[in-house]
Amino acid sequence: MDLDQLAALRTPEGSAALAAAAEVAGGDPLAAAARLRSAGFPAGLAAAALTQAELRRRAVGKFGPEAAGMFLTRPGLEQATRRVVADRRAARLRAAGVRTLADLACGLGADALAAARAGIRVYGVEADPVTAAMAAANGEAAGLADLFTVECGDATAFDVTRVDAVFCDPARRTTGTGRRIFDPNAYSPPWDFVTGLAERVPRTVVKVAPGLDHALIPAGAEAEWVSVAGDLVEAALWCGELAEVPRRATVLKEGPPLNASGSGAAPCHQLTGTGDAEAPVGAVRRYVYDPDPAVVRAHLVAELAAELPATLADPSIAYLYADAPVATPFARCLEVTDVLPFSLKRLRALLRERQVGRVEILKRGSALEPEQLRRDLKLAGKAAASLMLTRVGGAPTVLICQPVPG
Ligand SMILES: C[S@@+](CC[C@H](N)C(=O)[O-])C[C@H]1O[C@@H](n2cnc3c(N)ncnc32)[C@H](O)[C@@H]1O
Repeated sequence: MDLDQLAALRTPEGSAALAAAAEVAGGDPLAAAARLRSAGFPAGLAAAALTQAELRRRAVGKFGPEAAGMFLTRPGLEQATRRVVADRRAARLRAAGVRTLADLACGLGADALAAARAGIRVYGVEADPVTAAMAAANGEAAGLADLFTVECGDATAFDVTRVDAVFCDPARRTTGTGRRIFDPNAYSPPWDFVTGLAERVPRTVVKVAPGLDHALIPAGAEAEWVSVAGDLVEAALWCGELAEVPRRATVLKEGPPLNASGSGAAPCHQLTGTGDAEAPVGAVRRYVYDPDPAVVRAHLVAELAAELPATLADPSIAYLYADAPVATPFARCLEVTDVLPFSLKRLRALLRERQVGRVEILKRGSALEPEQLRRDLKLAGKAAASLMLTRVGGAPTVLICQPVPG
C-alpha cells in the first residue's frame, strides 16, 4: 500500500470498493478479485480494497466492530495494542490528570485513539508516511480528528514540553523481514531515547515486550504485565509521577464480545507488590495452582502465595500448592490425584490403568517436549487428565491432576 492507493481508497469510489470487498472477504481470493473487477473497479483499487477488507476481518479480535472502518497494514496490525488493553491504559492516564499526550511512534493509532476516546488531546508522531496517513484516517473514521492529530516524522525530534505526558511503544520488529527484535537497544525509537523520556517528562509510559529483562526496568518505575484471557500480551513501564507500585499484574478475563462502540466489559483483576518477595516452600499438597503468566512475569508469585495461602514445592518453580481450592482470577486450580517421580514407563502404565485417552500437558521446570511425550504415551481410553511436568525439591516429577471447575 502506498499513499496514492490509500488516497484512492478514501474517495467515494474507494469506499464503494471497500464495501464490495467486505462482502467477499474471507472467501476464495481469486473469485473475490474477479467479482470486484466485474463490478467495474480498476484492478489496482480492487486489490487494495481486498487487502484492507482481509486485514479488517483479522482486526476484529483486537479492535471489535470499529475494525470495519479502519485502515491497516499487516505489520501495523500485528504491533497494535488490543483495544481492551489500550482503553484501560487511557483510563488510567486520564484518571492521573493527563490532558495532553504525545504518542511518540503511534503506528496505526490504537493507543492514541484510546486516549482520545478518554478525552485526552493526543499528538501522534509516526516515522512511516503510509502508517502516519492511516493513523490520521483512523482518527477521522472514529470521529476523533479534533482530539488526535498525526505528524509524520522522527519521534526523537518532538518537543515534549508541549504536552503533560508521553507514551512510547517502540517498534520491536525489523522493517524488512518483520522479525521480532529481542534486544531493546535495537528498538526504534532507540531504548536510550525511550528511557531518557522519563527523565525529561514527569509522566511517561513505555510499552515493552513482556519478556523484558527486569534489570532494564528504570529505578522507581512501575512495571506492569498484562494478560488477556490467559495470554501474556505486553508489559508497560509507568514512570515518574505515574508509578504507583513497583510491580503490577493486570489480568483481563475473556469478557462479552466487544460491543457496538468497541469497548468490552472484560473483567479486570490486579495484583501488586514489590516483585522481590519469596514464597514459602513446602510439600506437594492436594491442590496445585498454575499462576497467570502476568503474575509470574511480574514476579508476584509470593504475593499470590500469601493471598491464597499456598506454598511452592520447589523454590525456583512457580506452581503453588494448598490444601483447599480457592477461587482466584490469578491462577488456575487443579486437584492433584497422583505424584510420581518422572518415568515414562510408570506414567504410561498408570494412565493405561486409568483408561486416560486425552491429556493436557502443562510444564514448568521440565525440558520434556509435551507433544513428544504425548506420542510416547500412546494413550487410549475415554478418560481425561491434566499432566504437570515439573520439579519437586529439584527432582523431575509429574503430577496427574483434574481441573477444579470455576
Ligand atoms: C509498535 S508500533 C506502535 C503501535 C501503536 N502503539 C498501536 O497500538 O497502534 C511502533 C511504530 O513506531 C514507528 N517508529 C519507529 N521508529 C520511529 C521513530 N524514530 N519516530 C517515529 N516513529 C517511529 C514504526 O513505524 C511503528 O509504526
